[in-house]
Amino acid sequence: MLILGTGDVRQVLDGAETEVVAAVRRAYLLHDQGRTALPHSVFLRFPDDPRNRIIGLPGYLGEDEPVAGIKWIASFPGNTAAGLERASAAVILNSMATGRPEALLEGSVISSRRTAASAALAAAVLASSVPETGVSLIGCGVIGFEILAYLRAVLPDLATVTVFDLDRSRAEAFAARCEARWPGLKTEVAASAEDALAAHRLVTLATTAATPHLSTDACRPGTLVLHVSLRDLTPESILAAVNVVDDADHVCRESTSLHLAEQHSGNRDFIAASIGSVLGAEEPYRRAEDRVTVFSPFGLGTLDLALADLVRRRAEPLGLGTRVPDFLPGPASGADG
Ligand SMILES: NC(=O)c1ccc[n+]([C@@H]2O[C@H](COP(=O)([O-])OP(=O)(O)OC[C@H]3O[C@@H](n4cnc5c(N)ncnc54)[C@H](O)[C@@H]3O)[C@@H](O)[C@H]2O)c1
Repeated sequence: MLILGTGDVRQVLDGAETEVVAAVRRAYLLHDQGRTALPHSVFLRFPDDPRNRIIGLPGYLGEDEPVAGIKWIASFPGNTAAGLERASAAVILNSMATGRPEALLEGSVISSRRTAASAALAAAVLASSVPETGVSLIGCGVIGFEILAYLRAVLPDLATVTVFDLDRSRAEAFAARCEARWPGLKTEVAASAEDALAAHRLVTLATTAATPHLSTDACRPGTLVLHVSLRDLTPESILAAVNVVDDADHVCRESTSLHLAEQHSGNRDFIAASIGSVLGAEEPYRRAEDRVTVFSPFGLGTLDLALADLVRRRAEPLGLGTRVPDFLPGPASGADG
């Protein structure tokens, strides 16, 4: 068993934005081609505790060298007040020859980077004919920051970021962090979510809202909303938008805004396309310039496996991680059957 901790994972993934986006793109294409197995994520919730949860995301990615495994990710929003990140996770990769677990990786960095890469990829592929020079980020946490890093990697003209958070001190600290990391980037703190929605034609939602609180009425026509936190937008806004998803069966669950929109309308006709089909199409995607487009990625476990596999492959020649040779039982003895 190879164990790769957070430092190992960061060492491989830092500065590897191009490779990470390519791995996410490949995972989406494989999913669109039916070369994945992706059971529904399992949501473990606790009695009398609506806030906390742990999600299991098992999957199989039919690469030339296939990958199978699971991400097990906890969300405890109260952690942030105690100085810990909301999310923590582990990824297990299994051998496709024996089924045996082969690698255990710290998963929260993998998870946040694959999420950011999927949002940035969508921003690049669902691009408008007018290049994006600004982005609004609603929700100033870990995911928002990673998304900004990846957007900067794929959208070279990005010069301004407008941020909003329910907690203004978090928005201000986020803006200060952005200025320190990217000195040339202009940062603004918006007074309201609506001001942030109106500021740019590219918007990212990465809040911890559990129920819809935002309509897209304040957005300009032609805006692309990266609806990463999945439960912010009202069902009416979803029904009025051009919707692109990662997987309709996955995203219309667990009280996401799309799930509520499906319950409202009685069908899924409001979903226009999957990101995999857009990536696989021969013609470039043309974003509607007169409507709002919403990308809602449920977050497929195959993306985590793609990144975990990338980390494992790069870590081995670098000698990263800890090997535990006796973690698993040795060869079965005849007596054990
Ligand atoms: N779709 C995916 O693949 C995927 C993957 C990972 C995380 N997520 C989601 O992304 C979200 C953000 O995760 P994070 O790790 O950055 O969380 P975080 O706790 O680090 O940050 C969330 C921020 O949102 C703010 N916020 C909460 N409600 C708000 C509201 N109504 N308006 C504005 N700001 C609000 C909080 O104050 C906080 O600063 C979570 O909902 C998480 O489930 C989605």
